[in-house]
Amino acid sequence: MRHGSDASLNIIDQTNVASRRGSCFISRMRATLKTIGNFCALALIANFMTACSSIPKASFGTTKAGEAIEIYTLQNKNGLIAKVTTYGATLVELHVPDKNGQLADVVNGFDDVSGYEGDGNQYFGCTTGRVCNRIAKGKFTVDGTEYTLAINNDPNHLHGGNDKALSKQVWKASKSCCGQSVTFTLTSPDGEEGYPGNLKMKVTYTLTDANELRIDYEATTDQATPVNLTNHAYFNLGGAGSGTVLDHLLTLNADKYTPTDDTLIPTGKIEAVAGTALDFRQPHKIGARIPDSAAAKTEDCKTATLGYDHNFVVNGTAGELRPAAKLKEPKSGRVLEIFTDQPAIQLYSGNFLKSQAGKNGKTYPFRGAVCLETQHFPDSVNHANFPSTILQPGQTYRTTTIHKFSVE
Ligand code: GLA
Repeated sequence: MRHGSDASLNIIDQTNVASRRGSCFISRMRATLKTIGNFCALALIANFMTACSSIPKASFGTTKAGEAIEIYTLQNKNGLIAKVTTYGATLVELHVPDKNGQLADVVNGFDDVSGYEGDGNQYFGCTTGRVCNRIAKGKFTVDGTEYTLAINNDPNHLHGGNDKALSKQVWKASKSCCGQSVTFTLTSPDGEEGYPGNLKMKVTYTLTDANELRIDYEATTDQATPVNLTNHAYFNLGGAGSGTVLDHLLTLNADKYTPTDDTLIPTGKIEAVAGTALDFRQPHKIGARIPDSAAAKTEDCKTATLGYDHNFVVNGTAGELRPAAKLKEPKSGRVLEIFTDQPAIQLYSGNFLKSQAGKNGKTYPFRGAVCLETQHFPDSVNHANFPSTILQPGQTYRTTTIHKFSVE
């Protein structure tokens, strides 16, 4: 600083004392302003650091491959808590109040990363992709080239494949400097899990003071490639591991759905829910019509009687945030509303849950949670009449889903 003021003095030095005094004053002012500036910058950094340090980071264990996994805690001014981990950019815990203000963790998960790497993990809370849901026979063609993916849900490809599915990768985390927000980034290289293009992704979880868990996704590519990202949270608003979700009341803002074959691949038709067990335009208990939900599929559908596993077309304009679903647990009064800009939402009633052991000694029984996965239609890449999932170089994939909690 002194060197700076001397230098500025030297420049004007040749004239007279008055101007020298003036220059002295100016350089002092400069020095003072610089000091204030530095002080402000320090104060700002300190302020940012305080904001950042209000998002605690902890160890979530080590993967089998020896990678250290982190978990971050978001908390809003009303005491809601969301915990997210770098393993699979996964939502691990979500504590929301009931009508008496009593908090409960309403999502399935595990105590540490070893659970997520184990057999009990059925995509609990993860970021799912590169293409969530199914791709028929693991095949698709883009720009005249056929690509072959892993068949991990015989005879189809499911939720991005095997070891390099996004749900099994270790993402890099950064905390926001203001607000309760953590961003995960990952680059999936060209050819990973058979998909073309280097895909750069960003997933941001934000817990707002309006009691919303907001998830923002972004992706870019250097080759045309299908992208369909979602979050695979399993909700039980009575508290994860507290029984089934058959009494939860569900409303879906969907007049139509996409019927499937017996391997859960859409036939390509888009049909009305009216008159079927898929009509959730008025609230219905999830369990009330499960046996009938089979009728909304082809006759020999093997999984139909297990429960719901259907893609609903969200009413309104895709690309605009609009209500997609409302879930209410009558005893606790907890309500979850989902808003999305995605074209569709998968209703999956925990049909393959197998009483696996989860967090805090809880177990997750058959139909013990419900997934409401906002998404593009399954197998879109093989159906020209479905909204396209192809991301082109130069474009940015952007989508937002909001989970808003309240009580009634
Ligand atoms: C999705 C699918 C289901 C099932 C679960 C994970 O929701 O639609 O069929 O694979 O994921 O178990």
